[in-house]
Amino acid sequence: MIDLVGIAEIAKMFDVSSAAVTNWRKRSDNFPKPVAILKSGPVFQAEQIEKWYGRKNKMAAIIVSSINLKGGVAKTTTTVGLAQTLSGAFNKRVLVIDLDPQTNATTMLIGEEKWFSLNQAGHTISTLFEDAIDDCNNFDLSKTLQKSVGNISEVKSVDLLPSSLNLINLQDRLITMPAGKYQTRNPVNILRRGIKEITNDYDYVLIDCPPNLGYITLNGLRISDGYIIPTIPDVLSTYGIPQIVTRIAEFSDEIEDNILPIGIVATKVRGQASIHTRTLNKMRKDAGKLMGESKLRYPLVFNTIFSESARVAEAAEYEEYKTLRQKWGYQGQYDSLAEFAGEFIQITKEV
Ligand SMILES: Nc1ncnc2c1ncn2[C@@H]1O[C@H](COP(=O)(O)OP(=O)(O)OP(=O)(O)O)[C@@H](O)[C@H]1O
Ligand SMILES: [Mg+2]
Repeated sequence: MIDLVGIAEIAKMFDVSSAAVTNWRKRSDNFPKPVAILKSGPVFQAEQIEKWYGRKNKMAAIIVSSINLKGGVAKTTTTVGLAQTLSGAFNKRVLVIDLDPQTNATTMLIGEEKWFSLNQAGHTISTLFEDAIDDCNNFDLSKTLQKSVGNISEVKSVDLLPSSLNLINLQDRLITMPAGKYQTRNPVNILRRGIKEITNDYDYVLIDCPPNLGYITLNGLRISDGYIIPTIPDVLSTYGIPQIVTRIAEFSDEIEDNILPIGIVATKVRGQASIHTRTLNKMRKDAGKLMGESKLRYPLVFNTIFSESARVAEAAEYEEYKTLRQKWGYQGQYDSLAEFAGEFIQITKEV
């Protein structure tokens, strides 16, 4: 005989509230489907529920997007440096997803030559989006996923889903994509459907986004638990932060999920520039406070700051290194990355 359980029984099985079970069901794609829906609510097969719970507790990846509407504020540098440090210094399994048609994270991690051949073979993330638009089936996840990338001997567990310049055209075509039945062709669910089988092979998935909140970026946010906002602490780079927080909160509402603002990261900081000091102080003062009339709060600011340094800019070159410190810099540059990764781990524990 099959054991059937309702929400209340499931809550009892795992010693949580019924509300928690309802949330699991809402938030988890693979929560078992009910075998029937009675007046008293849905009923499930107990065995399926137990299996699901076991899988869930193997820990799901923490997924974080790197967002700023402003270009050139070190989104990509921060994403790649964080990924490599989480792997090399903290022994985490990390997946980097490059959603930016500029392909900067991709070439930082696998070099231009390798990218070129992958791109020619169609083994980039853009094939996934093309498939959705053209109703094809060309995306090959295992051939697209690049394992153990980055060329630093002590960094072994960073994988990459590479980007392509073609994403620029796809961005426009996504807007006019016909909405399919049951959201199966919903243009913000493409990434989620394409890669959900691998995300939980990782501790962290870091998504490098282009400097806009278009459909491609929304695909990244759709699967994200939260986002970080790298910014140069100057007037123009920080100007859009309230807009970002507001727009992403609206999007969270639309998809009935939470995408948390994890924090602002100050980048390319010039100690002598008084505008940088002033902006940083202002952001720290605003952190956690309500923004204007809205119910939303200004994001927290990470303690770590990244100083401007020619060494960090050179780290964009794809070359061989033995250690993280060698690549990212001996004069405190790598120390900042290590400090940031530590903070990041601490803060994202709570998302
Ligand atoms: N701490 C730093 N010191 C000096 N240069 C830096 C630093 N961090 C990043 N850079 C350089 O600044 C430039 C912009 O950085 P990056 O590409 O990471 O920004 P981005 O926000 O991803 O840009 P885009 O919006 O174009 O994607 C790059 O040339 C990068 O090497
Ligand atoms: Mg970038």
